Amino acid sequence: MSGAALVELSHVTKRYPGVVALNDVTLTLEAGTITALAGENGAGKSTLIKVLSGAVVPDSGEVTVAGRHLPPDPGQVIRSGVSTIYQELTDVPAMNVLDNVLLARQSSRLGVLEGQANRERARAALERVGLQNIDLKRSAGSLTPAQRQLLEIARCLARDARVLIFDEPTSSLPEGDVETLLDIIRQLRREGLAILYVSHHLDELFAISDTIVVMRDGAVVALKPTGEWDQPALVKAMLARDLQNAYPWVERPLGDVALEIKDLTAPGVRSATITARSGEILGLVGLDGAGRTELMKAMAGATKPTSGSIAVDGRTIRLGNLTHARERGIVYAPEDRKREGLILTASIRDNLVLGLYALISRLGLIMSGRQTGLAEASVRGYGVKADSITQPIGTLSGGNQQKVILARVALAGARVIMLDDPTRGVDVGAKSSIYEHVLNLAGQGAVVLLTSSDTDEVLATCDRVYVLRAGRIVEEVMRADFDRERILTSASLG
Ligand SMILES: Nc1ncnc2c1ncn2[C@@H]1O[C@H](COP(=O)(O)OP(=O)(O)OP(=O)(O)O)[C@@H](O)[C@H]1O
Ligand SMILES: [Mg+2]
Repeated sequence: MSGAALVELSHVTKRYPGVVALNDVTLTLEAGTITALAGENGAGKSTLIKVLSGAVVPDSGEVTVAGRHLPPDPGQVIRSGVSTIYQELTDVPAMNVLDNVLLARQSSRLGVLEGQANRERARAALERVGLQNIDLKRSAGSLTPAQRQLLEIARCLARDARVLIFDEPTSSLPEGDVETLLDIIRQLRREGLAILYVSHHLDELFAISDTIVVMRDGAVVALKPTGEWDQPALVKAMLARDLQNAYPWVERPLGDVALEIKDLTAPGVRSATITARSGEILGLVGLDGAGRTELMKAMAGATKPTSGSIAVDGRTIRLGNLTHARERGIVYAPEDRKREGLILTASIRDNLVLGLYALISRLGLIMSGRQTGLAEASVRGYGVKADSITQPIGTLSGGNQQKVILARVALAGARVIMLDDPTRGVDVGAKSSIYEHVLNLAGQGAVVLLTSSDTDEVLATCDRVYVLRAGRIVEEVMRADFDRERILTSASLG
């Protein structure tokens, strides 16, 4: 079944003010084939996907599906067999599984027969994604994130998708669910679907694809069968430079104890005790739901601990009080940037200084000038790819939004910096520079506490890790004793 060109993009160009997001892109997606798309943040991957889904109309060029022009409207694109799975879930949590699978399917009549046929269709689609045992009446919101994503794929299949597009599908999945998703995608390839797969996890691209395409500055710069790529070559094609060491770490002198948490119990956290010295980089390792995010939230004052204490530089902070925690130098960069981190319609500059008013407001009228200066320095320092600091942050690529969050944390001049999965959706080059910034912040005396959906990354960058399980810290491991298998086992036992 493989080999037939299902989708053809020919000389597609899309410009935004100050940037060519797609520059003369020509690309073919074949039936029964997985094409991986790689490229640094802002390279144009999502824009390409938006063109294929009908959400963005190119300035010039042509897209055909099975020889016909791509219809000019997203709904019609789906009906023509091209479906997209976005990074964020688009299901309706309050609706049940059946209705979610059938969502937006046009039904002419609602007769009993039709209802029965639809149910059969939904069941068949759910079976193809391994959800055959799920109760059709359960609400989508009661499923795990991984199951909800499979539900979205089932919805595409129920609409007879022949082309499936994935934009960073594993960036919101727990590590353990990634392999299941990849297996299902492989199965869909066997069934003859044409698949486009975008991810910053290069090992996934190697594991799953037949072809890897690299984009840079809106253009396709390389395209080869996966077997002809290796990791260094791929990184070099993406970044146009070699990357020797993605995870910088150096031994540093540590200062006095700067953070002391004693027996902290809070929603999702049971009796956590942590001591950290000034300049230390600490990792939290655990399965999804083990309490890493909950611990950070409790420390930030976003949830209310029921007992225990937190002290920064020997001064106790009031628990469950965001403002007080912030004033004492605890800042938190949440994992869900879309919901908790940014105001997408506001400018880069305003997003940068959100919550930093103490830093600029004292200066009254000078404020906006100071804001602009700070923002410009941050955008430069963090390599945010943007046309101007007045650009709405929602128009930045995903990875560049993440860099703005980190730049903001650095501006806060904090004593304790908590980064919840800071490199999610970030390209390999930016990952490396984020860890350089982390090292700098620690070098200036801050305590950095971080998690990552990639445990190897934590082990490569931290001085010490705490392993969490079911809300409890079950182990503390020094860098000299890091052993990946043992730590992962410790995180998942029990
Ligand atoms: N609506 C928009 N208005 C202005 N510029 C935009 C808009 N959408 C995208 N861009 C710009 O187009 C370029 C390509 O962005 P795109 O989202 O396609 O990148 P990407 O490869 O998906 O990056 P990432 O890996 O970070 O997700 C970026 O410079 C981005 O800022
Ligand atoms: Mg993107």
